[in-house]
Amino acid sequence: MNIGTPLTPSATKALLLGSGELGKEIAISLQRYGVEVIAVDRYANAPAQHVAQRSYVIDMTDAEAVKQVIAKEQPHFIIPELEAIATDALAEIEALGQCTVVPNARAIQLTMNREGIRVLVAEELGLPTSRYAFAETLEELKVAVAAGIGYPCFIKPTMSSSGKGQSMVKSPEELDAAWAYAKAGGRVDTGKVIVEAKIDFDFEITLLTVRAKNAQGEVITQFCEPIGHRQEQGDYRESWQPQTMSAKALQLSQAIAKQVTDNIGGLGLFGVELFIQGDQVWFSEVSPRPHDTGMVTMVTQRQNEFELHVRAILGLPVSTHLLSVGASAVILGGVEAGAVVYAGLENALADADVSIRLFGKPQAFTHRRMGVALATATTIDNAREKACHAAKQIIITPIE
Ligand SMILES: Nc1ncnc2c1ncn2[C@@H]1O[C@H](COP(=O)(O)OP(=O)(O)OP(=O)(O)O)[C@@H](O)[C@H]1O
Ligand SMILES: [Mg+2]
Repeated sequence: MNIGTPLTPSATKALLLGSGELGKEIAISLQRYGVEVIAVDRYANAPAQHVAQRSYVIDMTDAEAVKQVIAKEQPHFIIPELEAIATDALAEIEALGQCTVVPNARAIQLTMNREGIRVLVAEELGLPTSRYAFAETLEELKVAVAAGIGYPCFIKPTMSSSGKGQSMVKSPEELDAAWAYAKAGGRVDTGKVIVEAKIDFDFEITLLTVRAKNAQGEVITQFCEPIGHRQEQGDYRESWQPQTMSAKALQLSQAIAKQVTDNIGGLGLFGVELFIQGDQVWFSEVSPRPHDTGMVTMVTQRQNEFELHVRAILGLPVSTHLLSVGASAVILGGVEAGAVVYAGLENALADADVSIRLFGKPQAFTHRRMGVALATATTIDNAREKACHAAKQIIITPIE
């Protein structure tokens, strides 16, 4: 792999579709190799745009707008950071063969819609998932639940992320409201919802899985230590690494992750979400990109998930080596406001084992992730305590 010089005709260029906090760290990792970064988002001054050579504000679900930016910039790599993208445009661009869609256009298409990935994993690959059904009407939903999904169950829009439009239903009386919520909460109304039986897991993990070339140029699959996490309202609040689990469950998790990522193909890092109960493992979903719960790797691994993604993309060898036990705790906006001021960093950072990342988002919402506290320790419990304590020290106030 040859890398050119940024801002010259020889530049190696990467175009980020989505410029949030994950994109910002991907951009920083790219910059470290002298890759020229173009950051695209639907709003101005998104986090990754603060650390890119150029940026664009477009509607990323508009195929023409996406193709125009790509035609103008002629990037070598297109790196999707989120799911709400005109995937047909990416497939067209990939077919032209002039740049690499990371990890590939099919991966982006499969994972943007819960139906695509679920059918592949459960029906084609035959891997364990929760019982599920798709419904296009409230009536179909009622029939599906009565016919075997049962209660409790989760109702989700087929196209949504971060828990949007998702609810857990415990009895038939709650189905109407869950249906209406899913229809209104989806990113795009596909007309369909997925209903999944609730898995009674002991804990859930993200298994970061990297497909990268080794020094001999062969594509190999490597796994990070499992990351445990706690979700609230379908969004992550805390994560830690490593999650303690049985050798058998870990082996099964890795086997599932390998089968899924082998099928998806391409080079890059994947966040494979799994539910664990004893030695049993169920596949939940996969992100063909760094995962929010994986931000903990910024303090736990020799090469964090962003560095792993970037190296894999560039065809370089990676190491998933864990250096320390650690945890992350998210810092939520807590207010509805424009730009805000962050106080209390000196208190949060009084502990030498703590790091803070502030994303610099131009607008705060009550439940918007504005930053993350990271901590290392000798035990998981202690790391979680430190990260949560540090996150609580950060006080966010609106600018008058
Ligand atoms: N079938 C299920 N059984 C048990 N828990 C579930 C099930 N489906 C979802 N959950 C819980 O809800 C969380 C969010 O679900 P899921 O990952 O499908 O949503 P999402 O909108 O894609 O979220 P994100 O984008 O943050 O990953 C899961 O991490 C898990 O805690
Ligand atoms: Mg998820």
